[in-house]
This record gives sequence, C-alpha cells and structure tokens, in this order.
Amino acid sequence: MTEKCKTATLQLDGKSIELPILSPTAGPDVLDVRKLYAQAGVFTYDPGYTSTASCDSTITFIDGDKGELLHRGYPIDQLAGKSHYLEVCYLLLYGELPTAVELEDFETRVTRHTMLHEQMQYFFRGFRRDAHPMAIMVGVVGAMSAFYHDSTDINDPWQREVASIRLIAKMPTIAAWAFKYHTGQPFVYPRNDLDFASNFLRMCFAVPAEEYEVNPILSRAMDRIFTLHADHEQNASTSTVRLASSSGANPFACIAAGIACLWGPAHGGANQACLEMLKEIGTPDRIPEFIARAKDKNDPFRLMGFGHRVYKNFDPRATVMKQSADEVLDLLGIEDNPILQVAKELEKQALEDPYFADKKLFPNVDFYSGIILEAMGFPTSMFTPIFALSRTVGWVSQWKEQLADPAHKIGRPRQLYLGETTRDYVDIENR
Ligand code: ACO
Repeated sequence: MTEKCKTATLQLDGKSIELPILSPTAGPDVLDVRKLYAQAGVFTYDPGYTSTASCDSTITFIDGDKGELLHRGYPIDQLAGKSHYLEVCYLLLYGELPTAVELEDFETRVTRHTMLHEQMQYFFRGFRRDAHPMAIMVGVVGAMSAFYHDSTDINDPWQREVASIRLIAKMPTIAAWAFKYHTGQPFVYPRNDLDFASNFLRMCFAVPAEEYEVNPILSRAMDRIFTLHADHEQNASTSTVRLASSSGANPFACIAAGIACLWGPAHGGANQACLEMLKEIGTPDRIPEFIARAKDKNDPFRLMGFGHRVYKNFDPRATVMKQSADEVLDLLGIEDNPILQVAKELEKQALEDPYFADKKLFPNVDFYSGIILEAMGFPTSMFTPIFALSRTVGWVSQWKEQLADPAHKIGRPRQLYLGETTRDYVDIENR
C-alpha cells in the first residue's frame, strides 16, 4: 500500500479537510478516513461495509466486474486445474507456492495433526443426535481451546503456527465426526497414508463392517471443492474472525465465531438452501413461477445461489463447479439428473431475464456445489460444514496476517445513534 500525493478534500462547516488517498496494487483507490474524527469530529456511515475497506491484506483479491479471483496473485481457475488443496493452503498461509521439499514437509505436518484428543469424543456425545452438524462444529471448534492449551498464546509465533496447522488438519475430522454422530454411525479415525480429501471421504463414508475404497475421481472432485472455497478476502465470516481476534481472543474461539457466521443462508448456508430450492422447484416448467417470486418485492424469496456482494459478473468458482458437476454425475453414471436439469434451465432463464441482468445477479459458487455434494452421498446438512472446513485455511491465514501487523487495533465500529437523548428515569408507579 502506498500513499499517493493525491488527496481528497472534504469541505465541512467552512473547514477544508485533506484526506489521503491510498493506492492498492489492484482494485480501487481507498480514501483514508482514519484521522477524520480527530480532524473534523464526524464519522462515516456505511452499514454492511459496502464502500469500506476494513483492513489491508496481501492474501486474496477479487475483481467483481471481471469475475476474477486471485490467491497471492494466482487465478483460481489455474489453482483449481493444476494445484491441489494443501498446496493452496501453503500458498495462502505463507505467501508463495512451496518447493517440493516444503510441500512434503507441510503435508506431513498437517497429516500428523488430523487426530482429535480422545476426550473430545465425549464432547460430541453430549449433543442430541439430531443436532445440525454446523451446531456441533461451532461447539467443538470453540471447545478446542479447552483441549489444546499449548497453542492459545497469540503472542507466540510458534503457538500461532501450531494452532494454524491444528485447525486445518482437525477440521475434516471434526466435520466427519459431526456427520457420523448425526447419522448414528461409529467415528472413523483419520489415516496417514491417505491424502487430505480421500481421508475426509473415508472418515465420512467408511464403516467398520467393510473395506472402503476411495474413488480417486471423487477424491479429486472433493479436493477441488475444498480449493474453490479456500479463501475469499473480507467476506462476512472472515471479517467475523478478524473482529473476534482483534480483542486478543484465542484462535479456536475466533474460528468458532467464523463458523457461526458462515452458517447463515446469505453466506455459507446458501449451498444447502440452494439445493433445497432446486428440489422444491422440481421440474423445469415451474421455473417461471420461482423467477417471478424472486422478482416480487413483496415476497422475501430470493434465488439461492444467485447474486454476490462483490461479483457483478460470473463467479469464477461457479464456472469450475459447473464443469465438476458434469464430470462427477457422469462418473457416477447419473444421467439426466433432474436437479441438474432444473439448475441449468434456471440459470439460463434467469440470465435472460432483465431483472437479473440489470442487477448483475449471476450464479455464485453455491449454485452447483450442492448438486456435486449430494451426488457424492452427502446430505444437505453437510454442505455448510464442508464449506467451513475448506474455508478454515482462509480464516487462519487472515487471522495470522492481522496478528503479524504491528498496527492492528481492536475493531470497534462507530454508530449513527437515532435513539432517545438523555431523559430522567420514571418510577414504575408513574409510567
Ligand atoms: N434473488 C433475487 N433478487 C436478488 C438476489 C437473489 N438471489 N440477490 C440480490 N437480489 C436483488 C435484491 O433484492 C436487491 O434489489 P433492489 O436493489 O431492488 O433492492 C439487489 O438485487 C441487490 O441485492 P442486495 O441484497 O442489496 O445485495 P447484497 O450485496 O447485500 O447481497 C447476497 C448479496 C446476500 C449474496 C444476495 O445476492 C443474496 O441474498 N443471494 C442469495 C443467497 C446466496 O446465494 N448467498 C451466497 C453468497 S456467496 C457465498 O457466501 C459463498
């Protein structure tokens, strides 16, 4: 970030206030209002942060108009096509692609941390069997701070590193065990001879009664889903992690906060909501009815998997996901999948509709991911946990970046107060 000679001038009550303009390596210039209150006694107002940069970052960049997503400069389609999840994790965490030796060392470190403290089983067993796996994940990840005391000191870089590896490594085990607990099957322990995605599939679908062979094509598709969800700059859950961390909270508490935020249907919960919507539509002839509902201002219904705060063009992850959906269904011999037919026709009709075109609403990553996950055998309730485990590396990378910044401060937004001004307390008998 460089400070340009250029400044913006704000005229206020006869005073002229110079605001520096900061220049990013990509994206729009940023007006620096940090000293605005001290200089002019006013706040800025931006609910939902539509025009506000909450931090500086070197990790991920999105060009919403072009439909471009870069991790440390590398386009997501290249990473999804040529790389794999753990390599992308390394890139996000440390800033550069690893050498072969660095990658092997990193993969070994992650693999050796996939087991959970045995006592954590009892924590799982405290939940009702019908608990949503996201509810279990929020609880269990928060509880990690009670099990891994030796990696909660955020001022110790080594402990920060251990916490990062633990979170990335254990999250698939936690998600898989939440699933197993939910379905009433025994927990399956991780295995060190399997890659990250195969291990997760095995922990989800193996049972002690028989051998489980991981299908390499499904494992590749799973890995691609992890890769496509790995990071997405300052979205709601990542900003939640950063805000929680700004108070000095421990890493496990911060990531649990991120998981809680991700759960909402406007964010990570959209993939579950999207598949449920596609099933509710059921057949292509009902699409116009649902499109009409999405356009009706008096109906709260929205087309799930459509629209994005930043992308005003195709979400590049959706393009890869659509290809992947075709490949996976083809592999599994699921021809003429009715939900995929509805999805493709809905996408076509929505894109031709001026409402969606004018508002620049395009399919997002969630539009096709649910179809793949369901074909793999996951129930809809597992879609958001899979998103959470994929996004853990993004949360952790952003958390580490924030802590390493010597200028970081507690996040404490201001407000536009519209309530009562000072008034005297009235005794109950006089109200
Ligand atoms: N269906 C119908 N109309 C929509 C949709 C949609 N999916 N998305 C946005 N709009 C309309 C809004 O009604 C609004 O119309 P208006 O200007 O006439 O009031 C306009 O488009 C802008 O929408 P906002 O909600 O103001 O945009 P915002 O950036 O706040 O919201 C969001 C983005 C939350 C993703 C929204 O598009 C949405 O709810 N989409 C459906 C849920 C979804 O798929 N979420 C996944 C996001 S990606 C992710 O988290 C991985």
